[in-house]
Amino acid sequence: MKVLVTGASGFIGSALCDSLLARGDTVVGLTRDPQRARRTNPSVTWHAWQPTLERPPVEVFEGVDGVVNLLGEKINQRWTDDAKRRIMESRRTGTRNLAQVIAGLERKPSVLVSQSAIGYYGDRGDAIVDEAAEPGQGFDAEVVREWEQAAREVESAGVRLVIVRTGHVLDPSDGLLAQLLTPFKLGVGGPIAGGGQYMSWIHIDDEIGILLWALDDEKVSGVVNSTAPNPVTNRELSKALGRALGRPAVLPVPGFALDLMFGGEFGAVLRGGQRVAPRRALDLGFEFRHTEIDEAFADLL
Ligand SMILES: NC(=O)c1ccc[n+]([C@@H]2O[C@H](COP(=O)([O-])OP(=O)(O)OC[C@H]3O[C@@H](n4cnc5c(N)ncnc54)[C@H](OP(=O)(O)O)[C@@H]3O)[C@@H](O)[C@H]2O)c1
Repeated sequence: MKVLVTGASGFIGSALCDSLLARGDTVVGLTRDPQRARRTNPSVTWHAWQPTLERPPVEVFEGVDGVVNLLGEKINQRWTDDAKRRIMESRRTGTRNLAQVIAGLERKPSVLVSQSAIGYYGDRGDAIVDEAAEPGQGFDAEVVREWEQAAREVESAGVRLVIVRTGHVLDPSDGLLAQLLTPFKLGVGGPIAGGGQYMSWIHIDDEIGILLWALDDEKVSGVVNSTAPNPVTNRELSKALGRALGRPAVLPVPGFALDLMFGGEFGAVLRGGQRVAPRRALDLGFEFRHTEIDEAFADLL
C-alpha cells in the first residue's frame, strides 16, 4: 500500500511512518521542511508543502491508496493571539487545502484518516462522552469542529473518511508523558489543580493501531474516539505514574501554577477534562492492547 502522511515528521507521525514501513508499505511524507524531515526518517519520500498557503501538489498523490492527516501547530503552549491563529489555521486551512486536492483528483485514494482531538468535547466533568456527544465550548472545541469540518469535504467525492478523535497519547519520548517524567523523577510531580479532572489517555501502540485499522478496514468510517476504554482522573494517573517510577506522587500542582506557565485560557483547559468512551472502536471490533493505566505505564517505562 502507498500511504501519504501529513505531520509525518512529528511525534505520532514518526511512529506511524515506522509502522507503515515495517509492514512493507511505501510512505510519502508532506512537510514544510524536507531537509529537516529527511533527518527524522530517510526511508520516507518527503515533499515540501506549506499547508496554510497552498494546496499540496497533485503529483505527490500518484499511486497513493490512503492518506493520514496529522499536521497541526502544537496546542501545548501559551495561547497568545498569534499562537491561536497558528493552532487554528494549520488545522482548518491545512486540512481544507488537503481535502480539496483529494476531492479533485482523477484517481483518488480510497481513504482519508484525519486526526482530531477529544478537545472536541470541551470540559465535561464526570459525564461519560462518546462519539455521539455534542461539541463542547471554548477555543479548543471550536478548532476541532473546524478541523473536522474541513476534512468532510472528501466525503462528497466518494472517499471514505475516518476522523480519529485522539486522547492524550502516552509515550516516554514525547507528549504528555515526556513532560511529566522529569518532575515525577525529581519527586516534585503530582496531581494538578485538584486532580479530579478526567484524562482520557491512549498508549502510543494503540493510537498507531487505530490509525492503521482506520486505513485498512473498509467498514470503518465516520468519527472514532482513540482513547483507552478506562479513562482515569488526573489524580489516578499521577498515582499510577508515581507507582511505575517508584516515586509517590506527593506534590500537588496548584491551578494558578498552570496559569503562570500557560496563561489563563490554556490553563483552564488543563484544569478541565473529559471522560471519553471509545464506543465505536469497541463496537467495530478494534482490540486494544493496553486498557489499564498501570499496565500501560509498566509497558512504556
Ligand atoms: N500528541 C497527542 O497526545 C495528541 C492528542 C490528540 C491530538 N493530537 C493531534 O495529532 C496531531 C499530531 O500530533 P503530534 O503530537 O504528533 O504533533 P507534533 O509532534 O507537534 O507534529 C505535528 C506536525 O505538524 C506540522 N506542523 C507543526 N506546526 C505547524 C504549523 N504551524 N503549520 C503547519 N504544520 C505544522 C509539523 O510538521 P513539519 O514541521 O514537518 O511541517 C509537525 O511535525 C496534531 O494535530 C495534534 O494536535 C495529538
